[in-house]
Amino acid sequence: MRDITITNQVIAHPKLLRVARLAARLQAQGGRLALAVDSAEGIQRLADAMAQAAPQARIDVLVEIDVGQGRCGVPPGEPALALAQAVARLAQLRLAGLHAYHGRAQHLHSAAERCDAIAAAVQAARHTRDLLTAAGLPVPLVTGSGTGTLVHEAASGVYGELQAGSFLFMDADYARNEREPAQPAFEQALFVKTQVISACDSHAVCDAGHKSHAIDSGLPTVALLPPERALRYANGGDEHGLLYADGPQARLPALGQMLWLVPGHCDPTVNLHDFLIGLRGGLATGVVERTIRVDARGALT
Ligand SMILES: Cc1ncc(COP(=O)(O)O)c(C=O)c1O
Repeated sequence: MRDITITNQVIAHPKLLRVARLAARLQAQGGRLALAVDSAEGIQRLADAMAQAAPQARIDVLVEIDVGQGRCGVPPGEPALALAQAVARLAQLRLAGLHAYHGRAQHLHSAAERCDAIAAAVQAARHTRDLLTAAGLPVPLVTGSGTGTLVHEAASGVYGELQAGSFLFMDADYARNEREPAQPAFEQALFVKTQVISACDSHAVCDAGHKSHAIDSGLPTVALLPPERALRYANGGDEHGLLYADGPQARLPALGQMLWLVPGHCDPTVNLHDFLIGLRGGLATGVVERTIRVDARGALT
């Protein structure tokens, strides 16, 4: 990988020195590292780290604007212009554009709400881009978006990069979103395999609890069961899941039966596992093609 964008704000000094060295290494290979920034102090620290650890290199920075997420980012408009001008004054940094990501909009259930949220984000990004351009600053890229809203940013004519990631795997939370008519249908591709380890008249228990899937966006669903076998997954703690028959006709699974769970949230679920097992040909009859190590697992600092 030669082009990397770090979208979390980084301001701690030892981390910035590592970032500076990585930027220089990628630049030497013809790649680039881009960092989202949202404070005058942050860009000064970054410039100092570059001067110390990679004096020959320049690092790309994206001025992050808050387009509705309420997380990182300066307000769109004048505050973003002021920060961009400050970036342009630092010789170690190169203004690479705007970071305008609306994470909360991705998971709004209604398609109309997502559309409205991104219309406002696009307006803010366009206005800010035009302000910078009018002040003589380059805005080669506006980047943002995710799986839930990508059709809107793609159609905006403002965004030059879509940061969607979950579309690759999908999850139970995204599956609950009302479908955007223009959006391609992304199939579920990430499953946690689990086995029934206990069963009684009222419920069954499987060996997949919070340690095997993230529950911040809700509990998993049980995949690939015909309606008469439909199961509801309930919280059984760290290592267990409780399974209840979902409907009067439904039957509980037998002891030893293998089941496939669709995690509530794919990104943090992947981070819980050392390897992904890649199947070709479907879950039921497919064959293992390769195992994929989760390189970035635990790499949080
Ligand atoms: C800054 C940023 N961009 C893009 C994404 C990808 O969004 P999604 O996985 O919903 O496609 C995320 C997800 O956490 C993110 O934090």
